[in-house]
Amino acid sequence: MCGIFGIVTKNEQTLGPILIDAARRLTYRGYDSVGAATISGSHIDLRKDAGRVDDVAAKYNFAEMSGQRGITQLRWATFGAPSQVNSQPHLDSDGDIVGAHNGNVVNNVEMRELFMAEGLTVRSQNDGETCVHAVERYINQGKDFIEAIRLAYGDLQGDYAFVIGRINDDKLYAIKKGSGLVVGIGDGFTCLSSDLPSILPLTREVIRLNDGEIITLWADRVELHLVKDGSRIERAPETIVEEMSAVQKGGYAHFMLKEIHEQPEVAREVLHLLENNTDVPRILETIRDARQVYFIGCGTSYHACLAGAVYFAQLAGKAVIPVLAPQFIPQYLPAIGSKDAGIFVSQSGETKDVLSALQAAQEKGMTTFSMANVIGSTLTRGTSAWLPLGCGYEISVPATKTFTNQVITFLYLAARLGGRDLAQFDNLPELMEKTIAETDPQVRALAPAINAWNDLYCLGYGATYPMALEGALKLKEITYAHCEGMLSTEFKHGPLSAITDGFPVLFAAGPEDVPLIVSGINEVTCRGGRAIAIGAPDSRLAANASDMITLPASSPEVAALLAVIPLQLLSYYMAVARGFDPDFPRNLSKTLTVD
Ligand code: AGP
Repeated sequence: MCGIFGIVTKNEQTLGPILIDAARRLTYRGYDSVGAATISGSHIDLRKDAGRVDDVAAKYNFAEMSGQRGITQLRWATFGAPSQVNSQPHLDSDGDIVGAHNGNVVNNVEMRELFMAEGLTVRSQNDGETCVHAVERYINQGKDFIEAIRLAYGDLQGDYAFVIGRINDDKLYAIKKGSGLVVGIGDGFTCLSSDLPSILPLTREVIRLNDGEIITLWADRVELHLVKDGSRIERAPETIVEEMSAVQKGGYAHFMLKEIHEQPEVAREVLHLLENNTDVPRILETIRDARQVYFIGCGTSYHACLAGAVYFAQLAGKAVIPVLAPQFIPQYLPAIGSKDAGIFVSQSGETKDVLSALQAAQEKGMTTFSMANVIGSTLTRGTSAWLPLGCGYEISVPATKTFTNQVITFLYLAARLGGRDLAQFDNLPELMEKTIAETDPQVRALAPAINAWNDLYCLGYGATYPMALEGALKLKEITYAHCEGMLSTEFKHGPLSAITDGFPVLFAAGPEDVPLIVSGINEVTCRGGRAIAIGAPDSRLAANASDMITLPASSPEVAALLAVIPLQLLSYYMAVARGFDPDFPRNLSKTLTVD
């Protein structure tokens, strides 16, 4: 969701190709518009429009842009429709300051009215422009940039990071408040970005900013200041050693397929991390002794919370409330106190809904832990202990490997709290490998028939219920078909009326739930529907279902986890057959930093 990149070089040079490449590296976050600005002497060259990076860059010939400083921004529309005028970067009233932001200025409308009343030139509806004018007002009053940004920070409500620069200067300035911002120190240049991957091809020396910090970038040095009192602080750069190959497709047609196939490997990694994590005993003790425990997340991460709650009750006898992050505040906050504990779950660690729930919970004294894939994200930095998912970069918008590692983390914690034999985890990665290898051809064979429909259901029970919800989300997200996930036993309470000849209904069946699932299957097939069972080899399923996707035999808990894999594959093959790009589904963003 939105991404900014900026670079400061020693002398004027061609910056276009650097800005295009940086923008390409930010595309995985999701976007609908792209822009670039370069500053040289007293001139700002600004080019931008709605559209894909390569198309807009080619149309406006970004490649020829030159300057001593450059900014590029990818926008995902919140304030103002995707259009040229709403694209970023934005100019101030006189056109001698340029800036761009990532995030959400929630008092954007009021601020724009104020600017217009003061006679500033407001050209768009976009809140990135609001950040520029918010600084411009104080520059017009004679303040220097650091002071102007500090004052603008007091005016701008919401979570954002922005970068800004002016003509006849040699610096860029940036501030972080709630959105990611990382700075790179290179040989003869400095740069900044919303995230690390977009910086790593340029330099491995980085400084991560905290909220409430302003950074000034020259070509050969940076200076950090605190917003609260303007004081200068020192922070040495750190050297990043991670491999960039993780962000390449590695021979797969799409990142999603690669990431599905990476699941066994990252499962091994997360189990290794969990075994050696010194925070795990404290997290488990807190959960055991807490008055009430909540698992909190959104979308796919919420489905992992649902699975976690099933596992904690089944394996450790501990009742947990799984909750969608935005519902946490209205439904549970009045009941929260210091004896309660929560695990906040997020792939990105930047989801605004999750961060808002976290803040509210902490204000009520709740003990908070996090589970996230992006280490150093706002979420992991905001909780007393965090559990890394160890998945590396997940580029594809549909979450796959981060989901299975969230579920494995919950399963591991529940088993350990319940004093269960942890040896059951030893062959889990192999079972996942087997599941991918064995279900892939079965799914491919079935996909064309299911793909003929634009409506389907995905049902589960017990530990497979969250997997059914997750499978349905994947199918909706990338095939654009309507797919509803629900508890299998609920189907007869209404949706059964949708069944017509051949209507597809997927059933994820745990080994202990087969009799109940078989009832559901028969309710569908006797009305002409097509019931597709996903489960370990079982003569009852085989005899009753219209089709069977066979999983390797395993424990009930692991069987649920395995059941989501063919659903991921099914959604992938259906999306590709429909001609859609599964990695970048329309209207969606990888990181949702807005309410
Ligand atoms: C998953 O496929 C979706 N892209 C989405 O539901 C996602 O899980 C949700 O937006 C939460 O994101 P997070 O895990 O980064 O917090």
